Amino acid sequence: MKQEKDVRILAYESSCDETSTAVIKNGREIESLIVATQIKSHQRFGGVVPEVASRHHIEVISQITKEALSEAEVSWQDIDAIAVTSGPGLVGALLIGVSAAKAASMATGLPLIGVDHIMGHIMAAQLKDEIEYPALALQVSGGHTEIVLMKDPIHFEIIGDTRDDAAGEAYDKIGRVLGVNYPAGKTIDQWAHKGKDTFNFPRAMMEDDDYDFSFSGLKSAFINTCHHADQIHQELDKYDLAASFQAAVVDVLAYKTIRAIKAYKPKTFILGGGVAANQGLRERMAGEIEKLADKPKVILPELKLCGDNAAMIGAAAYNLYQAGKFADLSLNADPSMELPYAETMLN
Ligand code: KG4
Ligand code: ZN
Repeated sequence: MKQEKDVRILAYESSCDETSTAVIKNGREIESLIVATQIKSHQRFGGVVPEVASRHHIEVISQITKEALSEAEVSWQDIDAIAVTSGPGLVGALLIGVSAAKAASMATGLPLIGVDHIMGHIMAAQLKDEIEYPALALQVSGGHTEIVLMKDPIHFEIIGDTRDDAAGEAYDKIGRVLGVNYPAGKTIDQWAHKGKDTFNFPRAMMEDDDYDFSFSGLKSAFINTCHHADQIHQELDKYDLAASFQAAVVDVLAYKTIRAIKAYKPKTFILGGGVAANQGLRERMAGEIEKLADKPKVILPELKLCGDNAAMIGAAAYNLYQAGKFADLSLNADPSMELPYAETMLN
């Protein structure tokens, strides 16, 4: 039997506050992954400062390109394509990765692949297990909260979206009220496990006949509760506050996603994005799916691959490579790229 040739992709991710490179074999195997985080530089501002992010990306990108190749024990001759996140994200931050990838493509003659960041988050699942299609993903991060239907590895359709804040953004905003450093999600998640859901915060849009979300009402209810307590010099239990907030977020996410799974009957369910690291959400989704008569396979990506990283971009790029979807040197950063990108760019 003829042995298929391995496909090795060097991938770049620089859409926000992590600069990352990776070498991925056949879209499934991580040969190297380097993540240079800038979180400490942004913490004192309480969020990501775009200019600071771009500067850090420039400082490390050449070095971590070399590190990704050396950690994978490969040279440029062993690479088949160069992939990069081209959107969505911070425009200045994206441009650093896109420029580095274009320069590498021009210098080596290797093909270039532009990858949607959200497609990347979802494809972190492919680094753990085989995705069977059609698949359905709950993609929850600092910038996005979406239910995505995938008929194959490159065609995605958003069937539910947030009307206001993303789930991760809500975690970060209420974290600030509790004095937790940015990004607050992980700490709030840990606190939630030590408290009880005693505040009964609102669960928005549960009755609506769609797959959309809203988190701004919950965020406001949380902030009002804390401010009111402050005014009357009452101390609230931070663990109960965290548990109550998390219960409201997880209830809504799980309820709408399970409804979508029942309606669309996917073969695989994927949790993706930074908030996919949330223990409460992981346990709840796995538990609810277990109760279904018609259960999809569940893929919860590895914790270290939930946040931004280039391995997920390399995994998604492999699928585009197989479909012959290459970019040329006109590839540009698109800060507000949306997943129908799959429709417009891929046809
Ligand atoms: O995917 P990501 O790294 O960046 C974006 O593309 O936005 O997601 C970052 C977000 C932050 O809002 C962070 O607070 C949240 O993911 N996050 C969590 C957890 N770990 C990270 N939220 C809830 N629970 C966690 N364990
Ligand atoms: Zn992300």
